[in-house]
Amino acid sequence: MRIGILNCGGDCPGLNAVIHGVVGAAASKGWETIGFRDGFEGLLPPGDFTFLTPKDTEGILKQGGTILGTTNKGNFAAKIGEGDVARVPQEIVDRAKRTLDQLEIGALIVVGGDGSLTTAHQLYEQGWPIIGVPKTIDNDLQATSMTFGFDSAVSTVVNSLDRLHTTAQSHKRVMVLEVMGRHAGWIALWGGMAGAANVILLPEIPFSYEKIAEHLKTREAQGYTSSLVVVAEGARNPDGALATIDANEGAEVRLGGIGEQVSHKIAELTGKETRCTVLGHVQRGGTPTPLDRILGMRFGVMAAQLAEEGKFGQMVSYHSYHVGCVPIIDAVKELRLVESDTEVVKAARAVGISFGD
Ligand code: F6P
Repeated sequence: MRIGILNCGGDCPGLNAVIHGVVGAAASKGWETIGFRDGFEGLLPPGDFTFLTPKDTEGILKQGGTILGTTNKGNFAAKIGEGDVARVPQEIVDRAKRTLDQLEIGALIVVGGDGSLTTAHQLYEQGWPIIGVPKTIDNDLQATSMTFGFDSAVSTVVNSLDRLHTTAQSHKRVMVLEVMGRHAGWIALWGGMAGAANVILLPEIPFSYEKIAEHLKTREAQGYTSSLVVVAEGARNPDGALATIDANEGAEVRLGGIGEQVSHKIAELTGKETRCTVLGHVQRGGTPTPLDRILGMRFGVMAAQLAEEGKFGQMVSYHSYHVGCVPIIDAVKELRLVESDTEVVKAARAVGISFGD
């Protein structure tokens, strides 16, 4: 048996842990593993790939990024614009399939997020032996309660808020931190709660600038001289507009800028001095946390097991501390969003965090 693995979509800490898990588990079954470079693109003839043995993956567990490279655009993009689904052109699918057949790949493990798994599902429907592994720092896939990379991203946010806290106090300022989170605000919510933010703005909870200003003014009246505001990049202005950088042809629209907008509006309405920090790709890079290393490794091992059982069209998933599987189609049907009346949001409100609503 020979299996293939590829990463696609944005990178995230823990991808190498998955590769480590897949290669190790495959070798122990006596199988060969081929890693395709730069996502599905590596399948296009003549094929861009490398054989991977446990020796090749030694030491990669602690490395951020992915040794195989990745892309979130190109020939196989199934999500474009604001998340609209596109079909991968049949000619591209057929060319890629030839590589798969020539290399006699018995199972192809696709490590990706919502967009890449949508592509993976389209290929599975055409008879490809696909196994999915969920990957997103946004942690927004419905069919798994956690994805690797999220914990590392949250740690980076918390570390940044801890630093912003001291400078905010010294200068008596409002510090705004813009974090990732396209459709779902999990990074902002968890990072903001653990980093003691006073206001958290999410894509899921509409906010008004007046409510934010009211909350910050109340804090000031109570004697607090500084405040921390966390805003997810996908949070919409009260008029419903997203802050975007550009259309990013052939891929999803690039988000960015809501932090500055929030920062200016707070200064205008409260008279407080404000500063904005955009964390950006710092959240995606660097060393994975121990949790993400273990989760990634377990996902990789489970993917190899699913290949052995011939469970194609399934995606590895994590629920109640157990790694199992669900059909890929269930994973890409719907995103897992923050609901405004859940226990975690109520807990945040109970300790005085405002969501600007
Ligand atoms: O989907 C993960 C994500 O990190 C989003 O939060 C963000 O909008 C996007 O990827 C950034 O992608 P890129 O690397 O293309 O800028």
